[in-house]
Amino acid sequence: MASYLEIADDSKGHELDLFCVPKHYEEDLDSVIIPNGLIKDRAERLARDIVRDMGGHHIVALCVLKGGYKFFADLMDYIKTLNQNSDESVPLTVDFIRLKSYSNDESTNCVKVIGGDELSALAGKDIVETGKTMETLLKLLNECRPKMVKVVSLLVKRTPRSSGYRPDYIGFEVPDKFLVGYALDYNEYFRDLSHICILSEKAKEKYKV
Ligand code: IMP
Ligand code: MG
Repeated sequence: MASYLEIADDSKGHELDLFCVPKHYEEDLDSVIIPNGLIKDRAERLARDIVRDMGGHHIVALCVLKGGYKFFADLMDYIKTLNQNSDESVPLTVDFIRLKSYSNDESTNCVKVIGGDELSALAGKDIVETGKTMETLLKLLNECRPKMVKVVSLLVKRTPRSSGYRPDYIGFEVPDKFLVGYALDYNEYFRDLSHICILSEKAKEKYKV
Protein backbone atom coordinates (compact mmCIF):
# COMPACT_ATOMS: atom_id res chain seq x y z
CA MET A 1 0.00 0.00 0.00
CA ALA A 2 1.27 3.44 -0.94
CA SER A 3 2.02 5.76 1.95
CA TYR A 4 0.85 9.36 1.78
CA LEU A 5 0.51 12.50 3.83
CA GLU A 6 -3.04 12.66 5.16
CA ILE A 7 -4.84 15.99 5.34
CA ALA A 8 -7.66 15.55 7.88
CA ASP A 9 -11.32 16.24 7.04
CA ASP A 10 -11.52 18.94 9.71
CA SER A 11 -8.35 20.66 8.48
CA LYS A 12 -9.20 24.32 7.96
CA GLY A 13 -5.96 24.98 6.08
CA HIS A 14 -3.97 28.18 6.48
CA GLU A 15 -5.18 31.77 6.28
CA LEU A 16 -4.66 33.30 2.83
CA ASP A 17 -2.96 36.35 4.36
CA LEU A 18 -0.04 34.20 5.51
CA PHE A 19 0.92 33.38 1.90
CA CYS A 20 1.30 35.12 -1.44
CA VAL A 21 -1.82 34.66 -3.54
CA PRO A 22 -2.60 36.58 -6.78
CA LYS A 23 -4.84 39.58 -6.12
CA HIS A 24 -7.38 38.41 -8.74
CA TYR A 25 -8.13 35.27 -6.69
CA GLU A 26 -8.15 36.69 -3.15
CA GLU A 27 -11.96 36.71 -2.94
CA ASP A 28 -12.37 33.22 -4.39
CA LEU A 29 -10.47 31.05 -1.93
CA ASP A 30 -11.33 29.83 1.58
CA SER A 31 -7.79 28.86 2.62
CA VAL A 32 -4.43 27.45 1.59
CA ILE A 33 -4.61 23.71 2.23
CA ILE A 34 -1.19 22.61 0.85
CA PRO A 35 1.51 25.30 0.49
CA ASN A 36 3.80 25.05 -2.56
CA GLY A 37 6.86 24.23 -0.47
CA LEU A 38 5.19 21.22 1.12
CA ILE A 39 4.08 19.93 -2.31
CA LYS A 40 7.70 20.11 -3.48
CA ASP A 41 9.06 18.38 -0.38
CA ARG A 42 6.62 15.53 -0.91
CA ALA A 43 7.45 15.33 -4.67
CA GLU A 44 11.13 15.04 -3.75
CA ARG A 45 10.45 12.00 -1.59
CA LEU A 46 8.17 10.40 -4.22
CA ALA A 47 11.00 10.79 -6.76
CA ARG A 48 13.33 8.90 -4.43
CA ASP A 49 10.79 6.07 -3.92
CA ILE A 50 10.13 5.80 -7.68
CA VAL A 51 13.83 5.66 -8.64
CA ARG A 52 14.44 3.04 -5.96
CA ASP A 53 11.53 0.87 -7.21
CA MET A 54 12.44 1.19 -10.89
CA GLY A 55 15.72 -0.61 -10.25
CA GLY A 56 17.55 0.99 -13.17
CA HIS A 57 14.79 0.37 -15.77
CA HIS A 58 14.15 3.01 -18.43
CA ILE A 59 11.22 5.25 -17.39
CA VAL A 60 8.81 6.65 -19.98
CA ALA A 61 7.12 9.33 -17.90
CA LEU A 62 3.68 10.31 -19.17
CA CYS A 63 2.26 13.63 -18.01
CA VAL A 64 -1.53 13.78 -17.78
CA LEU A 65 -2.44 17.31 -18.87
CA LYS A 66 -3.48 19.86 -18.02
CA GLY A 67 -3.79 19.45 -14.25
CA GLY A 68 -0.69 17.30 -13.89
CA TYR A 69 1.83 19.63 -15.50
CA LYS A 70 3.20 21.34 -12.37
CA PHE A 71 3.53 18.14 -10.37
CA PHE A 72 5.03 16.34 -13.38
CA ALA A 73 7.64 19.04 -13.95
CA ASP A 74 8.67 19.12 -10.28
CA LEU A 75 8.76 15.32 -10.01
CA MET A 76 10.91 15.03 -13.16
CA ASP A 77 13.29 17.67 -11.79
CA TYR A 78 13.76 15.66 -8.61
CA ILE A 79 14.33 12.43 -10.57
CA LYS A 80 16.89 14.29 -12.72
CA THR A 81 18.66 15.55 -9.62
CA LEU A 82 18.85 12.01 -8.23
CA ASN A 83 20.21 10.78 -11.58
CA GLN A 84 22.88 13.47 -11.58
CA ASN A 85 24.09 12.83 -8.08
CA SER A 86 24.22 9.11 -7.54
CA ASP A 87 26.21 6.16 -8.86
CA GLU A 88 23.07 4.50 -10.19
CA SER A 89 20.69 6.30 -12.54
CA VAL A 90 17.54 5.61 -14.60
CA PRO A 91 17.18 6.79 -18.23
CA LEU A 92 14.14 9.05 -18.54
CA THR A 93 12.01 10.05 -21.53
CA VAL A 94 8.80 12.07 -21.38
CA ASP A 95 5.46 12.14 -23.17
CA PHE A 96 2.23 14.06 -22.72
CA ILE A 97 -1.45 13.18 -22.92
CA ARG A 98 -4.49 15.36 -22.39
CA LEU A 99 -7.61 14.11 -20.63
CA LYS A 100 -10.83 15.99 -19.96
CA SER A 101 -13.63 14.78 -17.73
CA TYR A 102 -14.74 17.73 -15.65
CA SER A 103 -17.33 20.46 -15.99
CA ASN A 104 -17.87 22.94 -13.13
CA ASP A 105 -17.24 20.91 -9.95
CA GLU A 106 -18.54 17.59 -11.19
CA SER A 107 -16.79 14.62 -12.73
CA THR A 108 -18.62 13.57 -15.92
CA ASN A 109 -18.89 10.01 -17.21
CA CYS A 110 -17.22 10.95 -20.46
CA VAL A 111 -13.40 11.01 -20.42
CA LYS A 112 -11.84 12.58 -23.51
CA VAL A 113 -8.30 11.57 -24.50
CA ILE A 114 -6.23 13.85 -26.73
CA GLY A 115 -2.67 13.13 -27.97
CA GLY A 116 0.17 10.96 -26.63
CA ASP A 117 2.06 8.78 -29.09
CA GLU A 118 4.23 6.43 -27.05
CA LEU A 119 1.99 5.18 -24.25
CA SER A 120 3.89 3.28 -21.55
CA ALA A 121 5.33 3.21 -18.03
CA LEU A 122 4.94 5.98 -15.42
CA ALA A 123 1.83 8.17 -15.56
CA GLY A 124 1.88 11.39 -13.50
CA LYS A 125 -1.46 12.84 -12.45
CA ASP A 126 -2.94 15.74 -10.47
CA ILE A 127 -5.84 14.24 -8.52
CA VAL A 128 -7.92 11.06 -8.30
CA GLU A 129 -11.51 11.58 -7.18
CA THR A 130 -13.87 8.83 -8.40
CA GLY A 131 -10.99 7.07 -10.18
CA LYS A 132 -12.88 6.94 -13.51
CA THR A 133 -10.33 9.01 -15.41
CA MET A 134 -7.42 6.81 -14.35
CA GLU A 135 -9.29 3.57 -15.03
CA THR A 136 -10.00 4.79 -18.59
CA LEU A 137 -6.36 5.78 -19.13
CA LEU A 138 -5.03 2.51 -17.73
CA LYS A 139 -7.20 0.52 -20.16
CA LEU A 140 -5.68 2.54 -23.00
CA LEU A 141 -2.11 2.19 -21.72
CA ASN A 142 -2.44 -1.56 -21.30
CA GLU A 143 -3.45 -1.92 -24.97
CA CYS A 144 0.17 -0.92 -25.74
CA ARG A 145 1.38 -3.85 -23.60
CA PRO A 146 4.01 -1.96 -21.61
CA LYS A 147 6.36 -3.97 -19.36
CA MET A 148 5.01 -2.14 -16.36
CA VAL A 149 2.68 0.79 -15.65
CA LYS A 150 2.90 2.75 -12.41
CA VAL A 151 0.67 5.69 -11.57
CA VAL A 152 1.70 8.56 -9.36
CA SER A 153 -0.97 11.05 -8.33
CA LEU A 154 -0.24 14.11 -6.25
CA LEU A 155 -3.65 13.92 -4.58
CA VAL A 156 -6.31 11.34 -3.80
CA LYS A 157 -9.68 12.59 -2.56
CA ARG A 158 -11.48 10.77 0.27
CA THR A 159 -14.94 10.52 -1.22
CA PRO A 160 -17.88 8.10 -1.17
CA ARG A 161 -17.91 8.49 -4.98
CA SER A 162 -14.61 6.59 -5.27
CA SER A 163 -14.55 3.44 -7.42
CA GLY A 164 -11.92 2.01 -5.06
CA TYR A 165 -9.07 2.69 -7.50
CA ARG A 166 -5.74 3.65 -5.81
CA PRO A 167 -2.61 4.89 -7.61
CA ASP A 168 0.79 3.25 -6.95
CA TYR A 169 2.25 6.44 -5.47
CA ILE A 170 0.27 9.15 -3.69
CA GLY A 171 1.40 12.56 -2.49
CA PHE A 172 -1.48 13.53 -0.21
CA GLU A 173 -4.90 12.19 0.72
CA VAL A 174 -7.29 15.14 0.87
CA PRO A 175 -10.82 15.90 2.16
CA ASP A 176 -13.83 15.84 -0.19
CA LYS A 177 -13.61 19.52 -1.14
CA PHE A 178 -12.96 21.23 -4.45
CA LEU A 179 -9.27 22.14 -4.60
CA VAL A 180 -7.51 24.48 -7.02
CA GLY A 181 -3.99 25.73 -7.72
CA TYR A 182 -0.64 24.15 -8.66
CA ALA A 183 -2.25 23.48 -12.10
CA LEU A 184 -5.57 22.18 -10.71
CA ASP A 185 -8.40 24.22 -12.22
CA TYR A 186 -12.03 25.16 -11.90
CA ASN A 187 -13.28 25.67 -15.48
CA GLU A 188 -9.68 26.56 -16.50
CA TYR A 189 -9.17 29.20 -13.78
CA PHE A 190 -6.71 28.94 -10.85
CA ARG A 191 -3.94 27.05 -12.64
CA ASP A 192 -1.90 30.24 -12.15
CA LEU A 193 -1.85 29.82 -8.36
CA SER A 194 1.18 28.25 -6.62
CA HIS A 195 -0.47 26.76 -3.55
CA ILE A 196 -3.28 24.22 -3.42
CA CYS A 197 -6.30 26.05 -2.00
CA ILE A 198 -9.93 25.34 -1.09
CA LEU A 199 -12.29 27.00 -3.59
CA SER A 200 -15.11 29.00 -1.99
CA GLU A 201 -18.77 28.25 -2.75
CA LYS A 202 -19.16 31.80 -4.04
CA ALA A 203 -16.39 31.27 -6.59
CA LYS A 204 -18.07 28.11 -7.92
CA GLU A 205 -20.99 30.34 -8.95
CA LYS A 206 -18.79 33.14 -10.23
CA TYR A 207 -16.79 30.92 -12.62
CA LYS A 208 -19.61 28.56 -13.60
CA VAL A 209 -20.01 27.78 -17.33
P1 IMP B 1 -11.98 11.21 -11.44
O1 IMP B 1 -12.12 10.65 -12.81
O2 IMP B 1 -13.32 11.41 -10.75
O3 IMP B 1 -10.99 10.47 -10.59
O4 IMP B 1 -11.53 12.71 -11.58
C1 IMP B 1 -10.26 13.07 -11.83
C2 IMP B 1 -10.21 14.42 -12.56
O5 IMP B 1 -11.22 15.31 -12.12
C3 IMP B 1 -8.91 15.11 -12.27
O6 IMP B 1 -7.93 14.82 -13.22
C4 IMP B 1 -9.29 16.57 -12.28
O7 IMP B 1 -9.22 17.09 -13.58
C5 IMP B 1 -10.73 16.59 -11.86
N1 IMP B 1 -10.91 16.89 -10.40
C6 IMP B 1 -11.42 16.07 -9.46
N2 IMP B 1 -11.43 16.68 -8.25
C7 IMP B 1 -10.91 17.91 -8.44
C8 IMP B 1 -10.63 19.02 -7.55
O8 IMP B 1 -10.87 19.02 -6.34
N3 IMP B 1 -10.07 20.12 -8.14
C9 IMP B 1 -9.78 20.18 -9.47
N4 IMP B 1 -10.02 19.17 -10.32
C10 IMP B 1 -10.57 18.04 -9.81
MG1 MG C 1 -9.78 20.07 -14.53
